[in-house]
Amino acid sequence: MRRPVVVLWLSAWWLSAWWLSAWWLSALLALGCARAERYPPRPPAADKSNEPKAVPLIPADWVWLEPKPGPDLRIVFVPATAAEWSQLPGFWNVAPAVPLGLPTIHLGLEALPAVAGWALAEQARSVRIKVPRGLPDPTPWLPPGNPPTMAKWRLGKKLFFAEVLPISNAEPISRADRTACVHCHRPEHGFAEKLATNRHGNRNTLSLINVVYRKQLFWDGRADSLEQTIVREPHDEKLPVADRPARHAWGSIVAVIREDEDYRREFQEAFGVRQPTQDAIAQALATYLRTILSGDSAVDRAAGPGGLNADTLEAFLDDDLLKRGGLKRDTAARQILLGHALFHGKARCHLCHPPPLYFDGDFHNIGLEASDLRQLLGEDLGRFEFVPVGLKEARLRGAYRTPSLRALPRTGPYMHEGKMDTLSAVVEFFNRGVSARSNLFVAKPLLVSPGRARTLELDSQEKAALELFLRALDGGPVDAMIATPKP
Ligand code: HEC
Ligand code: HEC
Repeated sequence: MRRPVVVLWLSAWWLSAWWLSAWWLSALLALGCARAERYPPRPPAADKSNEPKAVPLIPADWVWLEPKPGPDLRIVFVPATAAEWSQLPGFWNVAPAVPLGLPTIHLGLEALPAVAGWALAEQARSVRIKVPRGLPDPTPWLPPGNPPTMAKWRLGKKLFFAEVLPISNAEPISRADRTACVHCHRPEHGFAEKLATNRHGNRNTLSLINVVYRKQLFWDGRADSLEQTIVREPHDEKLPVADRPARHAWGSIVAVIREDEDYRREFQEAFGVRQPTQDAIAQALATYLRTILSGDSAVDRAAGPGGLNADTLEAFLDDDLLKRGGLKRDTAARQILLGHALFHGKARCHLCHPPPLYFDGDFHNIGLEASDLRQLLGEDLGRFEFVPVGLKEARLRGAYRTPSLRALPRTGPYMHEGKMDTLSAVVEFFNRGVSARSNLFVAKPLLVSPGRARTLELDSQEKAALELFLRALDGGPVDAMIATPKP
């Protein structure tokens, strides 16, 4: 600190013209420095450990983690057990918080409370979905990270019907080089396809009806959430285009819709992101998929507190069901009751297909003969391949997910390779066709008794009754708000 003072002193002597001023300046500096030295050291900074810390800014390319700005309508599922259910007029209801008279209440209020009340009411406005009878409440199945809202749903629905999935390397990507979710998951076929296996892969297209209730997705359960079925890993984005449909990895969707001005605006509205991101796309599509519901089957309607009842069943049988079998109402009702008893008794289907969803959330090898292609490819491991090391069980070799039985007449062909075209073929398979030659490790008593496949010994009347019961489990059509592209 003294060095500059000495230098200044010397320069002052040498610069005669500046002698006086330099002397004064250096003297001042010397004094100033000396004074500064006399000050005590700065006190330590006040202890702020108890004060709330500033949240670090989210990096710009993670913008999708920010909560959506501005109000958006929540989507609320109302199950048949809720008191409100019977008051909802249709499947899709946009409900104001205070149904009637809100403006009148406002008139009598001071300006400030009126505005606050209005804002609260706006916040509480919601879309209320009347969950079809027979289905459980979907709310516990919703992931906390992706609560359903109207803007996400609208966007998800638009994406579902849009041709935004490139299936060729052509540049630029024309319409003909793209496909859409809806081309394989067809609303008129129960959101599945009439093909045995999808033309790009070797799996039967899964129906998306009631998919909200699934914890493990795909025939082999390789995805854990609906969000994951669109893209699972970052490297899915880089998959060769030709491999995408077979892997069901639609990473390329981001690149296509980023080009579109309307999408950019809609993503901004729904998520507050400037660019559509993979994450936001997955959230939007999953939100839409969770509203594809079908229930309210003849069996659901007729099931009173005391169980299925022939009288009520008669009233609920629809004409399609009767026409098919050429049956009178009362005969059909009796057959369905017999089918119901077989399903839960002699045929033991309920062991893996328990109501109300008619699946057990598990995977089984049910003794299907592997197709020629499969045999060429080597052993069909099914679920086994995707179970983490340490948890692999022998029974999961060649095992596939238990499907639901709630929309069967709409969703054939059946089984993971779509090998059975009709429900009577399925019933006959369980009756006599289970193959002990396949790598059958099933522990359930229906399918094996030690060393051999079991038969059910159903006579033709019983088989017909079981099939009719399966048909009577078919729910009502998916609401037009969901199943048609119109907004
Ligand atoms: C080329 C036909 C095809 C297209 C296009 C397609 N899917 Fe699929 N989807 C399938 C097939 C086949 C399966 C079964 C795959 C498997 O299990 O390995 C499936 C399975 C699913 C599943 C799992 C259902 C369940 O119950 O586990 C979901 C969800 C799904 N698709 C949603 C979509 C969405 C959303 C899109 C659009 C981004 C889409 N799919 C596009 C054929 C297709
Ligand atoms: C051991 C458990 C188990 C039992 C018992 C069982 N199923 Fe299944 N069921 C499954 C599994 C798993 C699949 C899918 C198998 C596959 O594709 O590899 C399936 C498939 C089906 C399908 C095809 C659905 C579709 O969408 O492709 C129908 C229909 C069916 N079962 C009806 C029945 C009936 C009727 C009974 C009673 C006779 C029965 N199941 C007994 C586990 C079982």
